[in-house]
Amino acid sequence: MGLYIALEGGEGSGKSSQAKVLARRLDAVLTREPGGTPLGAELRKLLLSPDLPSVSARAEALMMAADRAEHMAVVVEPALAAGRHVVSDRSVYSSLAYQGGARGLGVDAVRSMNEFALAGRLPDVVILLQASPEVARSRMKSLPDRLEAAGQRFHDVVASTYAELRESEPDRFVSVSADASFAEVETAIWSALEPRLP
Ligand code: TMP
Repeated sequence: MGLYIALEGGEGSGKSSQAKVLARRLDAVLTREPGGTPLGAELRKLLLSPDLPSVSARAEALMMAADRAEHMAVVVEPALAAGRHVVSDRSVYSSLAYQGGARGLGVDAVRSMNEFALAGRLPDVVILLQASPEVARSRMKSLPDRLEAAGQRFHDVVASTYAELRESEPDRFVSVSADASFAEVETAIWSALEPRLP
């Protein structure tokens, strides 16, 4: 059985680029949420479109969970069963931080709602990239998607909810400061992960 590794963090943490490099280094299947499957790609367009400004928090959480259910069934479980490692850019912990924390649905409610989608499978390791708000802002795209445009207070709650999740699940979480250069962050991720590799 391979290892299921998720990269997590707020906007501008550099996690998508780090996920690519890490997957190459591990010869892992590289994937992402939302959008890691054909169904997920359609859901991602809907979820992130700036033309869809008001989606109720519960509908947003359920669409993220639908993406996740498909992703687990079609990509993550088959790859792990075939002995491959999986590196995923985001996971259920994004739903806990964004929908549970920042949208105010509550971490416990979002966690239990996702149990059905996950069918018992959680990431073995969550690499949390923590960027300071100034660095995150400087790395943001000029045309933000719907969630990126949600405002500083929203993103502050995302960051504090991630920090709480890390405190409550220290065995699963590895946290790395994302403020340094790309190469330094890459090295820090590898040093933190290496002892956990089978
Ligand atoms: P990305 O910017 O990492 O590609 O992620 C897409 C956006 O979707 C990002 O703003 C975080 C958000 N998101 C949630 O709100 N809940 C989730 O469960 C996931 C997976 C992503």
